[in-house]
Amino acid sequence: MNPNLAVAGVSEPSGAIDPLQSWWMPFTHNRRFKSKPRLIESAAGAYYTLTDKGRVFDCLSGMWCTPLGHSHPGIVRAVTDQVQRLDYSPGFQLGHKPAFELAARIAALAGRPRDRVFFVNSGSEAVDTALKIAIGYHRVRGDATRTRVIGRERGYHGVGLGGISVGGIGVNRKMFASMMMPGVDHLPHTYSPKNMRFSRGLPQWGAHLADDLERLVALHDASTIAAVIVEPVQGSTGLIVPPRGYLERLREICSKHGMLLIFDEVITGFGRLGKPFASQFFGVQPDLTTFAKAITNGVVPMGGVVARADIYDAFMNGPEHVIEFFHGYTYSGHPLAVAAGHASIDAMVDERLIERAADLAGVLEDAVHTLRDEPHVVDIRNIGLAAAVELEPSAGQPGVRGHRAFERGLDEGILLRLMGDIIGLAPPFISSEEEVRAMIESVRRTLRAIAAD
Ligand SMILES: Cc1ncc(COP(=O)(O)O)c(C=O)c1O
Repeated sequence: MNPNLAVAGVSEPSGAIDPLQSWWMPFTHNRRFKSKPRLIESAAGAYYTLTDKGRVFDCLSGMWCTPLGHSHPGIVRAVTDQVQRLDYSPGFQLGHKPAFELAARIAALAGRPRDRVFFVNSGSEAVDTALKIAIGYHRVRGDATRTRVIGRERGYHGVGLGGISVGGIGVNRKMFASMMMPGVDHLPHTYSPKNMRFSRGLPQWGAHLADDLERLVALHDASTIAAVIVEPVQGSTGLIVPPRGYLERLREICSKHGMLLIFDEVITGFGRLGKPFASQFFGVQPDLTTFAKAITNGVVPMGGVVARADIYDAFMNGPEHVIEFFHGYTYSGHPLAVAAGHASIDAMVDERLIERAADLAGVLEDAVHTLRDEPHVVDIRNIGLAAAVELEPSAGQPGVRGHRAFERGLDEGILLRLMGDIIGLAPPFISSEEEVRAMIESVRRTLRAIAAD
């Protein structure tokens, strides 16, 4: 309690209020959590320390955002130095040099050094920004009827109003139906257990699903469609790996009809597939790319959009005294995020961590598929340094088995992230081969334990 507040007639929370009640937690069963809180105390390298469970292996690199491990010394140093030199810098009509340099490094890492980078603070903001750029781009070129956007079922593009509109997760949308962006349609998702169960890497079946985009073009007419947005690999609904040839086909159809292709690389950006971006892994170039999470190793919030150079140029046509794009955030290009971004890229390059993710991908693939015959497992899929183990839901109680796996996993020394009944695995790039194999053995013990309970 700060005594000065009492003087000002304000009081800090009294002992009568349980501070756990005050935080309305995001994407959480608040009542269940608060009746049995799970608190994290600290983190170092590939491990968290929980108040009641001790050290646990971080199986999803935070929330896909800490691939370089926690408290990476280079990042800690960079952020600490930065906060002493310049703690905040406005990004409207002013800038600080490292932000420009970081933009150039990100574009170079994406293999498109002439591209431009717009900074935001999260994946959700990156998506809404990319949608605005896409619609604005057509408009500034005199193509103002191109206002529709095509998303995809099971897509997760954050929680902004644009993101939930193009996203394809019913529960994220239904309460807010009246707030949806108009003119949005959806491609079918590509997951077909019948045709791709237990695939290793890219499923062979399903490239033809991209042709559904031609159906939507025929329905709405290309002249009304600004862009198509997809995650190259759908993460939040259980690691749905694209069928071989699918993304290439989407690219062809978008180019044929003058629609922009947006890759939402919020989880795949910065090395998860063993290449800096998924676009390089697949050899498919989008027109706009969103990123967030791993750019700062999760240390300071940051996101952004990489835009093709000529998209930027299209905005630069009006009179110079007029702002070209009425969009931005108080914290766009925040100095601490920029410092963390530079240090994260330094670590990835100097410690060859993206190459290491590529090397570990095979270890994870071999190990995770040994879980095939374990109790309740109905599918396993993997790509890059990421995998999913899908469990059969308990009858009439979706998510309950998943939650039991989460709880039991803690006893086995692993912090699992469950997407309903799907276990997501995306270990830090700094993990050793032994740690990746040990993680899978802990998952095995967890599955056997919940089956025996
Ligand atoms: C593909 C994708 N896009 C957007 C987001 C939203 O990011 P944020 O939670 O930083 O807003 C996420 C988050 O997981 C994501 O996976």
